[in-house]
Amino acid sequence: MNAIGNMSKLLIVDDEEGYREVLKTIFEAEGYSVATADDGRSALAYLKSKKCDLIISDVRMPDIDGIALLKAARAAVPDIGVVLMTAFGTIDTAREAFKLGADDFIQKPFNNDELKVIVKRTLEKQAIIHENRAFRSAQRNMGGLSNIIGKSEKMVELFRIIETVAREHSTILITGESGTGKELVARAIHDMSDRAEKPFIPINCGALTETLLESELFGFMKGAFTGAGESRPGMFESANKGTIFLDEVGDMSQAMQVKILRVLQEQRVRRIGAADETPVDTRVIAATNRDIEPMVEDGTFRRDLYYRVSVIPLNVPPLRERRDDIPILVDHFVKKFSKRSGKTVSLSDSALELLKGRVWKGNVRELEHTIERAVAMTNDGAEISPEYCADGGTTTQSHLVEIPAEGLHLPAILNGLEKEYVEEALQRTGGNQTRAAELLQIPVHALRHLLDKHDLR
Ligand SMILES: Nc1ncnc2c1ncn2[C@@H]1O[C@H](COP(=O)(O)OP(=O)(O)OP(=O)(O)O)[C@@H](O)[C@H]1O
Ligand SMILES: [Mg+2]
Repeated sequence: MNAIGNMSKLLIVDDEEGYREVLKTIFEAEGYSVATADDGRSALAYLKSKKCDLIISDVRMPDIDGIALLKAARAAVPDIGVVLMTAFGTIDTAREAFKLGADDFIQKPFNNDELKVIVKRTLEKQAIIHENRAFRSAQRNMGGLSNIIGKSEKMVELFRIIETVAREHSTILITGESGTGKELVARAIHDMSDRAEKPFIPINCGALTETLLESELFGFMKGAFTGAGESRPGMFESANKGTIFLDEVGDMSQAMQVKILRVLQEQRVRRIGAADETPVDTRVIAATNRDIEPMVEDGTFRRDLYYRVSVIPLNVPPLRERRDDIPILVDHFVKKFSKRSGKTVSLSDSALELLKGRVWKGNVRELEHTIERAVAMTNDGAEISPEYCADGGTTTQSHLVEIPAEGLHLPAILNGLEKEYVEEALQRTGGNQTRAAELLQIPVHALRHLLDKHDLR
């Protein structure tokens, strides 16, 4: 494997100059780039500033010996390969070396070819580990974002920001209307961060009474209050090294706001009834669907806490501002719910037009529920009826005219209505086009045009 030899950087550590020189010559001849150090201290200094893939170190050295070097090197460069050599290769040292994570061990004096094999094998093993790790982290990175469906400009921009901020440790405030996907975004950030292996704990601050919220967040000591039979850690502690998702922060009481601010500032929590505080390293992602700035202005939400949590502000745009996303969201949900119910259902273009034209006050959540219901009401192999896709579900025949504050997309609504009326007329006349045209008070050729337009022939 010359590829490995050519790219890999070795560091030879030995207090005996003879060994250093011989090994340098041998491995340089093999195509490695080789540096040397005459003791543990200078080896560590070298690792601070230079890249190194594998250390080949003597065990017996004055000051920092090979074992101490192994520990310190791993602390500095977790993936570094370490091969130890000693003239005093007692079984105990060997065992200790492996226990501490040395990749291999060789006894002096050794056969050069044997050491070459060990070095090559160690580097190959390392390469596989790296590859796996890169693969897993790529998967994880995708995993986070792949749950969030969107291709509109606004969402692509949001993905870009998520990718950048995931690696930071700063607190994030996610704003956006209800059902826009704030929790999904929070999870994606966690999944893409280096905290991914640790817990992500969501808590809805608006859903709990203040006392309950406090004991959930901070935990309590045995006997702290009636019913506290056992001590219990709070969510800040349980999510240590992970992420806590404070949903609906805008709904928190003033007293609670002060307590949260303290945790954010001190990075410590005190369980209810405890004398001491426990240090916590918990990333906080907060979310609210309220318009929080006016609340800061009128004092309902503390300004200092606002600044703390909104170090990185993220806004998830409402669905009506990214209508381009509706078709792929619809497709995603149709697939998801058909699969779940073991059915194959399809959606016509006209039904999709209706969905695209709707207002979606409840954003993606409302769209998801609409599709879920529509799939449930559709038979296996059939097409989803447009009536399940129109505003107000089955009651589209009502003549209630209502324009929501956000406005609506008239062409799509009229298009959907047109199709429904034609279908209704055909149904009532048993498919007789002349009578259906009479019923709709339009010429037959106009009806035929509509049949083509809506794919109703
Ligand atoms: N871009 C998206 N792709 C796929 N599913 C989505 C998307 N956005 C939202 N959803 C789904 O919509 C539902 C609502 O999302 P979520 O709970 O994240 O919204 P939210 O902004 O936290 O809402 P609320 O403010 O009401 O808590 C969830 O089932 C979520 O999986
Ligand atoms: Mg939510």
